[in-house]
This record gives sequence, structure tokens and C-alpha cells, in this order.
Amino acid sequence: MWNHSDLLLLNSSPAASASVAVVDTNEQTPLHRVHCGGSVLAIAVSSDHIYAGTQGGDIMVFSLDTYDHVRDLKGHSGCILALNLSQDESLLVSSAGDAIINIWRTKTFENVHRIYSTFDIGDIFCVAYSSKLSSLYLGAQNTSIQWYDFRSTDKRPRASLKSHPSRRSHRFFDSLGPGGSATPQPPVDSSDVLESCHESQLVEIDPLNIVQYAHFGYVYCMLLLQSFTKEGEEILVSGGGDGSIKIWEIDSETSAIKPEKSKTLSSGDSGVLCMATRDQFLYCGLTDGEISIWDLDGQALIRSIKGHQDDVLTMTVRDNCIWSGSASGYVRKWSQRFELLGRWKAHDGLILASDLKSVKGRDLYFSGGNDDCISVWDVSCQEDDFPAAYRTTEDELLSTLRKLVSYRTVANDPKFSEDCRQGASLLKSIFRQFGAQSFLIPTDNRNPIVFGRFTPPETPGVESKRQTILFYGHYDVISAGEDTPNNQWITEPFEMTGMNSYLYGRGVSDNKGPVLAAIFAAGELAQNNQLTCNIVFLIEGEEESGSRGFKEAVQKYHDFIGPIDWILLANSYWLDDEAPCVTYGLRGVVHASVEIQSDRPDLHSGVDGSRESREPVIDMVNLLAKLTSDGGKIMIPGFHEMVRAITPAEEAMYTEIENEFSSRLFRGSITSGRLKEHLMSRWRYPSLTIHRVNVSGPTNATIIPRSASAAISLRIVPDQKLSTVTENLTSFLYNQFATFSSPNQLKISIDHVSEWWLGDPLNKAFKTLARVVEEVWEKKPLFIREGGSIPAVRFLEMEFGASAAHLPCGQASDAAHLDNERMRVANLYKSKTIMKKVFRELPLEGVDV
Ligand SMILES: *[C@@H]1O[C@H](CO)[C@@H](O)[C@H](O)[C@H]1NC(C)=O
Ligand SMILES: *[C@@H]1O[C@H](CO)[C@@H](O)[C@H](O)[C@H]1NC(C)=O
Ligand SMILES: *[C@@H]1O[C@H](CO)[C@@H](O)[C@H](O)[C@H]1NC(C)=O
Ligand SMILES: *[C@@H]1O[C@H](CO)[C@@H](O)[C@H](O)[C@H]1NC(C)=O
Ligand SMILES: *[C@@H]1O[C@H](CO)[C@@H](O)[C@H](O)[C@H]1NC(C)=O
Repeated sequence: MWNHSDLLLLNSSPAASASVAVVDTNEQTPLHRVHCGGSVLAIAVSSDHIYAGTQGGDIMVFSLDTYDHVRDLKGHSGCILALNLSQDESLLVSSAGDAIINIWRTKTFENVHRIYSTFDIGDIFCVAYSSKLSSLYLGAQNTSIQWYDFRSTDKRPRASLKSHPSRRSHRFFDSLGPGGSATPQPPVDSSDVLESCHESQLVEIDPLNIVQYAHFGYVYCMLLLQSFTKEGEEILVSGGGDGSIKIWEIDSETSAIKPEKSKTLSSGDSGVLCMATRDQFLYCGLTDGEISIWDLDGQALIRSIKGHQDDVLTMTVRDNCIWSGSASGYVRKWSQRFELLGRWKAHDGLILASDLKSVKGRDLYFSGGNDDCISVWDVSCQEDDFPAAYRTTEDELLSTLRKLVSYRTVANDPKFSEDCRQGASLLKSIFRQFGAQSFLIPTDNRNPIVFGRFTPPETPGVESKRQTILFYGHYDVISAGEDTPNNQWITEPFEMTGMNSYLYGRGVSDNKGPVLAAIFAAGELAQNNQLTCNIVFLIEGEEESGSRGFKEAVQKYHDFIGPIDWILLANSYWLDDEAPCVTYGLRGVVHASVEIQSDRPDLHSGVDGSRESREPVIDMVNLLAKLTSDGGKIMIPGFHEMVRAITPAEEAMYTEIENEFSSRLFRGSITSGRLKEHLMSRWRYPSLTIHRVNVSGPTNATIIPRSASAAISLRIVPDQKLSTVTENLTSFLYNQFATFSSPNQLKISIDHVSEWWLGDPLNKAFKTLARVVEEVWEKKPLFIREGGSIPAVRFLEMEFGASAAHLPCGQASDAAHLDNERMRVANLYKSKTIMKKVFRELPLEGVDV
């Protein structure tokens, strides 16, 4: 027989299971997995939160919406064994291995009552709370069922902390229980726990409110039900380790249960570990894999089946489906007639807890295990990949993103051009599902640009005045490097995985997540008839390879796309993980290749090396050395003179950032005293990088290579002109090389350039953006710039004569371009909300100014 506490002592490898004929196997991917730092023994899900009772004694609270860890409820010093929400969800009841019951107010998370019994009762395996009777029932290891009625005023002296169970030594229960193991007691200082609950009322169960030997075994589970015979009254059903199920009448005056008025249903020797009920049917999970189904009204056993190979530890019912979870980590789904509909492996280890909740039209199944995780499963009837009418809920956004991430839209690899095409056409069909006009703009032998246009319904006389917002983004991604031996991915990069309130996968943050958030934002406005302007999307497929072909294609389709009033993009990150930001500047870039060649073949260094032979690699080293001073200053003449001087207004924005970080370290390292300098050098000053130096021939140390090449780049800033920088760089290198009097050949090619971009943080677009970000995040955004470059921004501004504004959606820890790229669920949802408001309010803001 399992003792729930004993289960914890097992390691997480599933018990060896004999071979079973499995009728049906469904692969299931959890919507999300949350790590809880210890086994999860109890789960309760309200309309807002997931409550997880852990082995350590904390109740962890997660947002049901975003899976963010909201807080920990600390009130127990033993592992949590049961959680129950009152019907109206205003109270949460918890029981634990510390023989205490806590009652929490779910609105404020305060602990309102702490209840304990007079003697050692051991683990409290189950609790039930009746809102109607304001009464609490508990079932304990010492075979008793006890209750506390909050309606009756407690006339006994207030309980004192001295008699609190944590101050008593366990006599009986410190001895070894069945199976030879003691209840594990986590090393919690119970005085801390008491301290944190000092506001709550401590109450003791009246010795009269105890039914001894309620079962001849541990009381593992109980349920409160409506009575079948007396309308409006409740009954209590309990299941015990002795294999019996008891039905108790409740006296609605006193909340008391009476042993003489109980009915016993016996299911044999197997202990009753869990129960669930629907209508008059009671579904019981037993030791050794048995499931028994009872008709409570007729009090008859209807069926008994061998449901699992291992102990059935959880049971959940909804409508016509029953889910059972076992010690082997498998969940089985059953029809009402107990046909097996499917099974899947939910946990690496035991499934210890489960709950089910309907969330925005979906049935979500929550399971907790001794692999320290809660997993969230969508168990609603699966629709097709493409529901006929796109619903615009957050769930729909997630499942669409999952699909988009699954296409390996790596732009600069011909192997993936089919994936790119499919990614583009998925976007096209999403636009069309939302009723937008959409088609693919071809580029010269490159991935197409997805064009989408949302147009408000016609109102006579208004069309001509209507503004147009252009949203720019990209669907291509950088290679995930999942084939390289040392990659650090903890998930499959092209299978989006929800974990600990983050979504992991290549492209979720750069830029597929933000792009879909924007499309869904516009789509929702269109569906709700709230569009105040035209919204045009240009989603390209070559951003990560320098937007090749973008300019030409957009120019060709200019008349079709334009005119444009504002440009929005969402393709960068916050400064850290806490402060929301808006981005008003990007640096430009010049990428160049430098090559030095001799007209001789590779030579043997011993035979041919001499002072006279001018080696290309030595020339290269000398030439590159000229680019910077010993102190790292860029030596191209006139280069720094072109940099715009800082104004007091600009400096003030840096001061604001410094203030934000005055109380915490910037990315864990830079102290606020040096922050301004650090950020300025990244954002508003130019920099030079030598990416690579390469030589010809084999790489062993006896060869004189006949050629050397280097890849360099310059990040440029206002007001450095791209063409001037390019020319000055080239002529500087040629001039320097000329002074070497080398017989070798120097060749310089400019591979790729991008203009810098500087927005006007005071214009209407930024004002609207900043105001909306503050509304949605409830925090003033920081105005930041980026050290990186996005070639299309300045081009689009000039092409359409419109100003751009940039909303960074993700956090600094998103690891775009790196292994384990991710985006926080909350950031994705909030970005959608922000874009919806900006799309709607930016054109209106223009009216009254
Ligand atoms: C929790 O309490 C509700 C009544 O508030 C009841 O319907 C439900 O079955 C209980 N759940 C568990 C796991 O005891
Ligand atoms: C169970 O605990 C109660 C007090 O909470 C006590 O009165 C009773 O004797 C105990 N029962 C057993 C079987 O130990
Ligand atoms: C290095 O140079 C050799 C010879 O010019 C060339 O074959 C090779 O592709 C280059 N490697 C890189 C990484 O540029
Ligand atoms: C240099 O490397 C090449 C190719 O790896 C090899 O064939 C050659 O023997 C090496 N030469 C010496 C001197 O080690
Ligand atoms: C840099 O280039 C510009 C434009 O070609 C030219 O006018 C200027 O003289 C150059 N500066 C230097 C120092 O070469």
C-alpha cells in the first residue's frame, strides 16, 4: 500500500511495469511545464491561479494566464498533501504532513486560519471545505475524520502557540510507517512558518468533532457532494486505505457527521487512493491499478477494471471523460463507459496530483509529479490545425506561434527554402483568416515578403483622410546550430516548448512572436470593427541576411503599398528583464572584406621564408593594426568628427536609465556609476570589429600562405554618413597599404551596409507608444537605443517619408540568436495588447493635436 509520503522517497524512475496491451497511444506535448523545485503533491486551479502544493511545504502560486510565478504561500513545515478551493474560490484550504490545516484568502493570499487537532493525527491526506456550512472536514493518517464549524463561536480558550503541533514531538508518527519509511520532514524552521502566519487565527478542533476509526486505515481522500435524497443538503464521501468507501450524512445544523448514519461501500482489499465524481457516479483509483465505478444513488458497484499497472494516484472527471494518473507517470483518458480513449506519459515518475479547468473555451488538465513539475495539457476536443474562423484568444496566438516556429525559416541556407516558403504562406493565410488582404511579394531569388493589409469598413468621405500604419517585421531566423556538437539547447529548437512561464524555440522572440502579436492585435481590431486606420504589414524573409532584395522589392511595389504615415516595428529587447522600454535609435553598419594576395603559391617556410619575401599574412596584421590606436581608438581620419555631439536632453534620458538601475546591477555586472558611459559607447558611439582572419593553404605550421583575408565591420552612428564612412575606410586602408611598398595585392570589398536610425522620441508615435506601454505594464518605459542594426528601418522611413517607432517586446535574457532563445509568455501577451492600443490610438491621437 502506498503512503503518499512514501512515494516521495522513490526515485523518479517509473516503477518497472509489466507489459500491457495498450489500446491507443497519443503523443501529447504539454502546453507548458512549470518546475516547482520539489515533488508536487497537490494541485488546485482557480480562475486566475494554479496552486501547487510542494514537498517542501510551500504552496507555489502561478498565474493561470502567463504561468508567471506569483508568490509562495508559506504556512506548512511538512509536505503539502491536499489543497481544496471553496466553491466560490475565495478560500483555499491546505493540509500537510505537519498535521496543520491552513485556510488562505485567495484575493490577498493572507492566511486566515490555522487549524490543528488535539493529538497527533499524523499526515492529513485530504480536506474538503463546505462554503454552505462554513465547515472544514479533514481525513488523517490516524484513521480519523474531523471537522471544524466556523459558524459556531469557539468558547474554549484561544489556542496558544505552545500546544501547536510543531512544538510537540511526534511520538507515534516518528516511528516507521508501513513500508518501513518515516514521513519525510523537510528541514524547515517551524518558527519561521509561525512567524509568517502570526496574523492568522489559530483554532483547535473540538474533541467532540472527531470520528475515530472512520476507516480501518488511513483516510486518503474525501469529497463533499450534494445529497441524493435530501435536497440542498451535503454528504461527505471518504475513501480509506482499508479499501472501503464511506458515505456520511452531514447534520446541517452542527456540521457533524455521525458514524451510525454512515454507509459503507467496500471495494475489497485495495486501498482507495483517490476519488472523483460526476452526477451520481463515483470513480475511485485504487492500489494496484484498479479503478472502481460506483453508483452512489443506488450504492452499487457498477464496474471494476484494471486501469493501470501501478497504483492509481489521481482521478479527474469532466463531462464525458475521466482521466486517471498512475505511479508509472502515465495518464489514461477514459470514456464514460470506460473505454480507453488514449494514454500519454505525463511525468518522469509518479503522477501525484491533477486538476481540470476550463480556460477560455479550452479544457486544461493539470498534472503534478515527483519529477518536480506541473504540466498543463490541452485536453479539449482538438480542432483542425486551421479552425475555420480564427479565434483571437491568447491560446490561439500560442498555437499559431508553435506552428510558425516549427518551420525552419533559416534564410541563408538553401536547404530550408521550402520551410521559408511554408512559413510565408502560413502568415498569408493568417492574414486572410482575419479578413485582411494578403499576398507574397516576390524578391529577386530570395524569400518572399509577406504583404498584409487591414482596411476599416468604408465610411463615405473618410477614406481620403485615413492614416496608414506600416508594421515591419521578419519571419526568417538565424540557424539554431542544433547539429553542432556543443549546442546548449535544452529543448528542440523548432518545437516551441512552454517552460516556467517562458516559450523556448528559435525565432519566438526574434521575430516570430512579436510579428504574430502584431498581426493578432490588428486582427482583433478588425474583428471587433475597431480599426481606426489602415494597417499594412511587410514581413520579410531575409532580415537575418541583411534584408537582401527587400529594398528593390519594396521600391517596385511602392505605389501599391503607400502612402504610409507611421512605421512600427518590434524587433529588439529590453535593457534587462524588468523595465519595459521603447527604442528610438539603432546603429548602422558597414561590413567589409579585406584580402591580401601574393602572386606566388603557398610556400614552405623553412625553404622559402626569408626577409625579402613579403608574406600576405604579415601585411594583413600590419594593415589591421593601423585601424585602431593601441588604446582602441578608430584611426580612420575624420571618422570621430562626424559623430553628433550630445545634448542635455539626450543626456537626461541616460540619467533616467541610471536612476532605474540605481538599486540593482545592470545585467548583474555594471554598477550604475559606469552605466551611462557603458550605454553611450554601445548606442551612440561607433565601434570597429575584426570578425575573422583567414589564411590560404593547409593550417600546419610549415606553410607560408599565399593569401590572407579578414572580415571587419564598423558600427556607425548619427551623423556619420554611410557613403563617407565607406569611402574613408577604403581609402584609408589603400593609403596605409601603399606605405608598405609591398608587392602583394590588396582588395577591399564592401559586403553589406545599413544606415543608422534615430527616431524622434518626442513625436506622436513615441508619445503614444510610451503612454500605452505605461498603461499596460504599469511602469514608465525607459527610452533606449540599440547597438545593433536593422537595415530596413531607415530605408522605409526614407522610401515612404514616414517616421518609425520601435517597441522592444522581449527581455534582455531572451537569448535571440543564441541557444535557448525564449520569450516570456507575459511579454508576448502584453505586446499584443500594446500594439492593439497603439494601432487604434495613434491615428486618433493625431486628430486633436
Ligand atoms: C474541493 O472542493 C470542491 C467544493 O468546493 C469540490 O467540489 C471538489 O471536489 C473538491 N476537490 C477536491 C480535490 O477535494
Ligand atoms: C487520532 O487523533 C485524535 C485526536 O486528533 C485522537 O483523539 C484519536 O485517538 C487518534 N486516533 C488514533 C487511532 O490514534
Ligand atoms: C579561408 O580561406 C580559404 C582559402 O582562401 C577558403 O577556402 C576558406 O573558405 C576561407 N574560410 C573562411 C571561413 O572564410
Ligand atoms: C601539413 O598538413 C597536410 C594536410 O593536413 C599534410 O599532408 C602535410 O604532411 C603536413 N605537413 C607537415 C610538414 O606536417
Ligand atoms: C572622407 O570621404 C569624404 C567623401 O568622399 C571626403 O570628402 C573626405 O575628404 C574624406 N575624408 C578623409 C579624411 O579622407
